[in-house]
Formats: sequence, structure tokens, C-alpha cells
Amino acid sequence: MRILVSGGLGFIGSHTVVELLNHKHEVVIIDNLYNSQISTLHKIERISGKKPAFYELDATDYEALENVFQSYDFDGIIHFAGYKAVGESVRKPLEYYYNNLVSTINLAKLAVINQVPKFIFSSSATVYGDGTSPFNESMPLLERTNPYGETKAMSERILTDATKANPGLNVVLLRYFNPIGAHPSGLIGEVPNGIPNNLMPYVTQVAKGLREKLNVFGNDYDTIDGTGVRDYIHVVDLAQGHVAALEANISGVEAVNLGTGKGTSVLEIIQAFEQENNIKIPYEIVSRRPGDIAVSYADTTKAKNLLQWEAKLNIKDMVRDAWHFESNLK
Ligand SMILES: NC(=O)c1ccc[n+]([C@@H]2O[C@H](COP(=O)([O-])OP(=O)(O)OC[C@H]3O[C@@H](n4cnc5c(N)ncnc54)[C@H](O)[C@@H]3O)[C@@H](O)[C@H]2O)c1
Repeated sequence: MRILVSGGLGFIGSHTVVELLNHKHEVVIIDNLYNSQISTLHKIERISGKKPAFYELDATDYEALENVFQSYDFDGIIHFAGYKAVGESVRKPLEYYYNNLVSTINLAKLAVINQVPKFIFSSSATVYGDGTSPFNESMPLLERTNPYGETKAMSERILTDATKANPGLNVVLLRYFNPIGAHPSGLIGEVPNGIPNNLMPYVTQVAKGLREKLNVFGNDYDTIDGTGVRDYIHVVDLAQGHVAALEANISGVEAVNLGTGKGTSVLEIIQAFEQENNIKIPYEIVSRRPGDIAVSYADTTKAKNLLQWEAKLNIKDMVRDAWHFESNLK
């Protein structure tokens, strides 16, 4: 299949492009390089031996996108492009709503006009709000605590309505849990802009000596050791979930969780990192972060049944590959 990948030079997008190329799909990437670098394109080529087409453009620019659709017939679109920092979205809600919603509307519109049958959207477990784990796809979505989460729930709604009105459009809303790790080659991984929001890049930066210590936000949650529990998933597994979603025969719209179904606490992650990589991670317990929930993990039944996909890699693989990538970074 020929696939348009928006945000294809970002963390999850770049790993997905590699998996698509490994599965002999043709890939056209668009990215505005807001949170990625052109060098990632060359690294994708080094890993896969294939060079995907690349257009530097903004997905909120309808005309620029239209030109790309005039040059190719696409069989599918995977839409990763978006802003993703929860805290920043509270400070810059209009930028988040504009970028995340306009890009989704533009791509959905062009999918309909050009009769692209498959559309895969990067959603997030944040759409479940403050609900009770394991989260399953038929649960009602509770109120989100930040504009970022709201853009994901709104994009899901927009794509669902577009599918109802346009029966030729089939949409998979992939609700990611917590992607970490990196490609085993050590060439591509997560490079956060400024202070990392997420646990794993923070841990690897502490390990490298770039930051003094890790802040652990709260140890008084009702969990195994009091720290927050999340469903960490290796980014390569997550990327393969996109290939499975593309190759599955989905009609209409389906929301599907991509997680492992297992919860791991912050202290368990630190311990696994220290053991696997033989590096001590100094940390300090600080107060809870507003909006964080105690426990989040996926019910993975639907992904297994509908996509014939399940995560294969474990926490050791994740912390090893994350460190391999960070320690290779100049
Ligand atoms: N990483 C996570 O923990 C996580 C969890 C759930 C959902 N998601 C979603 O998955 C998607 C990919 O996440 P990621 O971690 O790879 O993020 P990322 O920032 O690494 O990748 C996003 C890419 O999109 C590009 N981009 C942003 N706005 C654009 C625009 N208007 N036009 C063109 N390109 C644009 C950026 O330059 C970047 O390369 C995002 O939509 C994110 O919200 C991520």
C-alpha cells in the first residue's frame, strides 16, 4: 500500500515508517520539523535500506497538503502530526486546538475527496480521563483534565462523524498508552524539546548526567509502592500495531487500545533501568502533579481480536533500548 504519514519524522512516526518499509509499503512523509530533525530521514534510510519521499510542510496548510495529494494516490493515511505536551497545552490552549484539530480536519477532508479508504489516528489513553483501569474501548470517555487530551477526544469525534457521513472512509483510532524505548539500532528514539515531560527521557538524561536527579511526582497514590502506575509499551511494538491496523480489514470506525495490559510503577521503572543498564538513578519524591491519575493500563483484548496484534517486548527491552539510544546521542 502507499501510505501518507504525517509527523513521520517524530518519535512514534519514525519507528512506524521503518516498520511500514519493512512490510514493503511505500511511504510518503510530511512533517514541518517542529519537533523533529531532517537527520531522522537519513537514519530511517540507514535502518531500512529504503528512502521514503519527504515533504517539509505544515499539516494545517490545506493547499500544501492538496499538492501532495495531487501527486500520489494513497491507500492510507497515518496521522501523527500534532503537539503533545500536556503542561504546555494548558498554557497554550489555542495553539494546541488549532494545530491538532486543523491538521486532523485537513487530512480527513483530503481523505474523503481523494477516496483514501484507510485513516489511522494517533489518539491517547488520556481520552479515558480519570476512569478506572483496565481501560476498555467501550467505556464512556470521562472529562479530560487538559486541552491536549481534549484535542484527542475532539479529533476522535470529528473522524467518527466524518466516517458516518462518508461510508468509504474507514478509521482506526489508536489509543496509545505510554510509548517508551527506541529502535534497537540506537539510531532513532525520543528527543524531547527542553525539559522532558515524560518519565523515560528524563531517566535517560539523568543517567547521562545531563540532569542531576529525577523528580518522582507523588508516592502516596493507592498503588503497589505509592508511585504512579502506567502501561509502558515499547515504541517498536507500538509501530507494529499501526501496520496491523493498516492491514486489518476495518470498516467504519474503531477505537483500539495499544498497550501491554500491564502496569508498572515509577519506582519499578527506575529499578529496572538501574539493573539492566547498571547505572544508578538518583531521585527525589516531590508532590503530585496536577491532573496525573494513579493508575492507567489497557485492556488489550480488542487489539488482539481485531488487529491480531499484541505487544511482545518487555520492560527490560524498553529500558535497555532507551539507554542505548540516549547514550549514542551526541
Ligand atoms: N509520545 C506519547 O507518549 C504519545 C502518547 C499518546 C499519543 N501520542 C500522539 O502520537 C503522535 C505522535 O507522537 P510523538 O511522541 O511521535 O510526537 P513527536 O512530537 O515526536 O512527533 C510529532 C511530529 O509531528 C510534527 N508536527 C507537529 N505539528 C505538525 C504540523 N502541523 N504539520 C506537520 N508536522 C507537524 C512534529 O515536527 C513531529 O515530527 C502525536 O499526535 C501525539 O499526540 C503520543
